[in-house]
Amino acid sequence: MPGVKGPYASLTPDTSGVFVTGTGTEVGKTVVAAAIARTLASEGRRVAVFKPAVSGLDEGGEPDHALLRRAAGSRQGDEQIAPYRYGPPMSPHLAASLAGEEISPQRLRQGARAAAAGAEALVCEGVGGLLVPLAPGYLVRDFAVDLGLPLVVAAPPGLGTINHTLLTLEAARTAGLEVAAVVLTPWPESPSTIERSNRETVEALGEVRVETLPLLDLDQPGRWPSVAA
Ligand SMILES: Nc1ncnc2c1ncn2[C@@H]1O[C@H](COP(=O)(O)OP(=O)(O)OP(=O)(O)O)[C@@H](O)[C@H]1O
Ligand SMILES: [Mg+2]
Repeated sequence: MPGVKGPYASLTPDTSGVFVTGTGTEVGKTVVAAAIARTLASEGRRVAVFKPAVSGLDEGGEPDHALLRRAAGSRQGDEQIAPYRYGPPMSPHLAASLAGEEISPQRLRQGARAAAAGAEALVCEGVGGLLVPLAPGYLVRDFAVDLGLPLVVAAPPGLGTINHTLLTLEAARTAGLEVAAVVLTPWPESPSTIERSNRETVEALGEVRVETLPLLDLDQPGRWPSVAA
């Protein structure tokens, strides 16, 4: 995993990290971020996780920050992982607005820096895709740039993924972000012609490393395969 770069580096010189984004919402970002965090933790590293905002807590189930914490073996509190948490399932800028507040980019940067300070590796999950607004004039992509972390892009393996993934790569590179890898998830045991072709096509046209992640039993992190970010 490449080290942390940019302005963030001087704040956390001993911490490496990765920023997991995706081609959209519900595409496997949390699972990929959790698998990376688990891999780093099983290598003996102290791993912190971070997610700028979590919404949809009203829907029940294990929220993203809880799965990330469990996978990383982290002892961070909810607030330290995800400073903004909302009940309704909606874009963070809207959830914040309905809660009568605005997400503060500075608070996000400070939160991620504090999380990284207590760890050897930081795994940050974005929200939705790169162009989702967090606050007026501040996209998820801006936060990734501020952290200076290389990106991992989670994407589904099936029909439609070529366009969504290449758009995401273009949006990332336009902003000067480095893309470490694309991860197709969940990758079936017997991939179809389309899925195998998608992998090769994204690799060739996107000029990017493409990894795959099989369907995981999320209750059994000890059985997950290693994912090299
Ligand atoms: N490799 C995998 N193994 C098991 N489940 C997976 C895998 N990849 C994706 N999924 C499932 O797909 C769904 C979406 O995954 P996930 O929650 O990681 O998406 P997300 O991009 O983080 O969503 P959000 O935008 O809400 O944060 C979940 O139900 C998740 O369990
Ligand atoms: Mg998620």
